[in-house]
Amino acid sequence: MVSVPEVNLNSGKVIPTIGLGFWLTPEDQAANIAYEGLNAGYRLLDSARIYKNEQGVINGIARWLAEDPEHRHRGDVFYTTKIYDTEHGYSETKAALNNSIEKAKKIGYIDLVLVHSPQSNYEKRHGTWMALQEAVDSGKVKSIGVSNYGIKHIKELLAYPDLKFKPVINQLELHPWLTRTKLVEFSKSQGIAIEAYSPLTHGKKLNDPDLVRLGKKYSKSPAQILIRWSLDKGFIPLPKTVHTARLAPNLDVFDFNLTNDEVKLLDQKDEDLKFCWDPTVYPLDNEKREDA
Ligand SMILES: NC(=O)c1ccc[n+]([C@@H]2O[C@H](COP(=O)([O-])OP(=O)(O)OC[C@H]3O[C@@H](n4cnc5c(N)ncnc54)[C@H](OP(=O)(O)O)[C@@H]3O)[C@@H](O)[C@H]2O)c1
Repeated sequence: MVSVPEVNLNSGKVIPTIGLGFWLTPEDQAANIAYEGLNAGYRLLDSARIYKNEQGVINGIARWLAEDPEHRHRGDVFYTTKIYDTEHGYSETKAALNNSIEKAKKIGYIDLVLVHSPQSNYEKRHGTWMALQEAVDSGKVKSIGVSNYGIKHIKELLAYPDLKFKPVINQLELHPWLTRTKLVEFSKSQGIAIEAYSPLTHGKKLNDPDLVRLGKKYSKSPAQILIRWSLDKGFIPLPKTVHTARLAPNLDVFDFNLTNDEVKLLDQKDEDLKFCWDPTVYPLDNEKREDA
């Protein structure tokens, strides 16, 4: 079984370098996919309140841990959830967190809570961050971060007068057709690690001739080449699948590297192409669009 390397976060915690995504994984399949994902070697599981499958993911983790308590420990697993836009604001986020923490009771704590997107306003984003900071102080949440934050949103957060904890992660859509160099470099310069969502382009670019050619060279699939590109860029990719047969192959990417030239070749495909939403430009005005 693949053993996934870890990297340091600015919270002093470590995070696995690849994770399993759960967007669009139905609640009634989430426990089994989480359990089978852990069996396959995944150690980072990425849920969100809006995915409506937090309980399933937690049940899968709890089942996996309970099966071999001597060798499997809570610290072996990294569980993420996210606070959705409609739950921004201090009291709203407090209530949302309490609900997610209650769901996570059987695994004790949540490793990472992200602000799912910056789509509210200054006051609400600030209140949300204050509630997240308190959750870290309570010990029920170990690290906090953001998702879909553009440079302006990060600068705003880092300037909070009562900032106690910096975000550990900015989770962004990233793949060769969307490399977001400025935003990635800015995030990294602030000590914020990058998670890459939609790393498989929702399966839409798997016939790309360069992916196919590189796949032949390394005896890997185009999906594995995309995941390897993400790792070679220093991102933490979060491929998603509901097919247990795809779990192990999507993780089988630690026995080869792309060359620098191959990474650059794939980088050149960048055309600012999004397969998902793009709140990094919120609100949509020209000034903020440049920052994305
Ligand atoms: N923060 C955010 O705003 C945000 C937004 C989007 C996603 N995310 C996170 O990132 C994760 C991944 O992103 P994503 O779900 O948007 O897209 P993705 O991982 O790029 O693509 C998932 C799609 O690819 C298919 N797939 C998986 N493995 C495959 C393989 N080996 N060969 C061919 N097709 C394959 C899956 O189908 P099957 O499931 O049928 O196998 C699914 O349709 C999400 O699940 C979520 O955790 C976060």
